Amino acid sequence: MLIAPSLLAADFLHLAKDVETVNAHADIFHLDIMDGTFVPNISFGFPVVEAVAREARKPMDVHLMIVHPEKYVERFAKAGAAMISFHYEAALDESDAVIDLIHGFNVKAGIVINPDCPVESIFPYLGKVDYVLLMSVFAGFGGQKFMEETYARVKAVKAELNRIGSTALIEVDGGVSPKNAGRLGKAGVDILVAGSAVFKAEDPAAAVAALRNG
Ligand code: DX5
Ligand code: ZN
Repeated sequence: MLIAPSLLAADFLHLAKDVETVNAHADIFHLDIMDGTFVPNISFGFPVVEAVAREARKPMDVHLMIVHPEKYVERFAKAGAAMISFHYEAALDESDAVIDLIHGFNVKAGIVINPDCPVESIFPYLGKVDYVLLMSVFAGFGGQKFMEETYARVKAVKAELNRIGSTALIEVDGGVSPKNAGRLGKAGVDILVAGSAVFKAEDPAAAVAALRNG
């Protein structure tokens, strides 16, 4: 499994240290963008993403928790994102167009759903996305409790991907820790996002290794 630490839980006063942890030990930078409207929280924006990009030696995965994702795809692509995901709930029938827009910048496109959105809602897009992000908490805040329903949702998406012959990856985000990593891997997860479990750990490098080994 690929490990994508979420910088939402990083130490912003010493961001370089946490960026280096990802460079040295993990696989992907997960960057959470919140607008205070799609989710009731505001995180960080372009200055932070651009600063990370200057030091990142691993790909940057931008998770857009914003209304009108189509307005900001270009700026995040130009800021250096290798992967951009948007919430289906924010795009609905425009999802096809948002995926095309992301691909137009040569960036991998992901579609995200919150835990209360039926997985079948995104089945029409599975043939064209590069990854599916299943939230295992409601988007908006780090440090929430992992929702057990996630395993069944991962399996359902995996079964549909297999049925249509898609190699799109499955990413899970929220409350991920070494306690649930193994079972998530068995269910079919390819990318684990973890904020608190990595950056609030005493030894972030060991936490990444523990997630990887499940
Ligand atoms: C939540 C974000 C997550 C968050 C995960 O809305 O999308 O990426 O940082 O944090 P933890 O791993 O602490 O649940
Ligand atoms: Zn996220």
